[in-house]
Amino acid sequence: MDQLEDMERILWTEVEISARVSELAAEISEDLKKSKVPVAVVGVATGSFIFLADIARRITIPISVDLVRVESYGLGTESSGAPRLSSDLKIDVQGKHVIVVEDIVDTGNTLSCLVSHMKSKGASSVSVCTFLDKPTRRKVNPELFGGGTFYRGFECPDYFVVGYGMDFGERYRNLAYIGVLKEEIYRS
Ligand code: PRP
Ligand code: MN
Ligand code: MG
Repeated sequence: MDQLEDMERILWTEVEISARVSELAAEISEDLKKSKVPVAVVGVATGSFIFLADIARRITIPISVDLVRVESYGLGTESSGAPRLSSDLKIDVQGKHVIVVEDIVDTGNTLSCLVSHMKSKGASSVSVCTFLDKPTRRKVNPELFGGGTFYRGFECPDYFVVGYGMDFGERYRNLAYIGVLKEEIYRS
């Protein structure tokens, strides 16, 4: 079955996403090209996997790449408010500048949990790079997001969005675009 039929509408196409990822990668590369400390890019599984792959390939400065796994939504559409770190870093981030890469920041709970975690592991500073930012749902003050730069691709309107890594019940992550899911799909 075509997953496109489950979309109310498309918010960003593959082409629009790609253009914005290139801009973000250029901005990060420029900002950090003179960094005195190593740069570690840390993606948050599962949702960030496509964005992480795309942006990592377009960043032109040396970086290390790692993943952590945090879950807060389970199978539903609302944040549980209690993110759980279920898989930790492999690399040592002590003394490094960490860029946490997310697909979307909603309440901010996942991110604030991770930023504190990176600092407790000795990161010298923490920036955030999220493809989507949904400020209408924010529960955590952005000042808590590491004190570094907050890079974001687009501001997301208050819809339940899927694609480009983002899921509903583990589906739709593989869509190359970002769409709004039809209400009948997540209400049924
Ligand atoms: C989603 C998304 C972010 C987080 C944002 O992950 O990928 O990581 O929620 O929500 P918050 O700002 O309210 O914390 P999810 O918990 O669904 O896990 P997943 O990445 O495996 O889909
Ligand atoms: Mn996630
Ligand atoms: Mg999810």
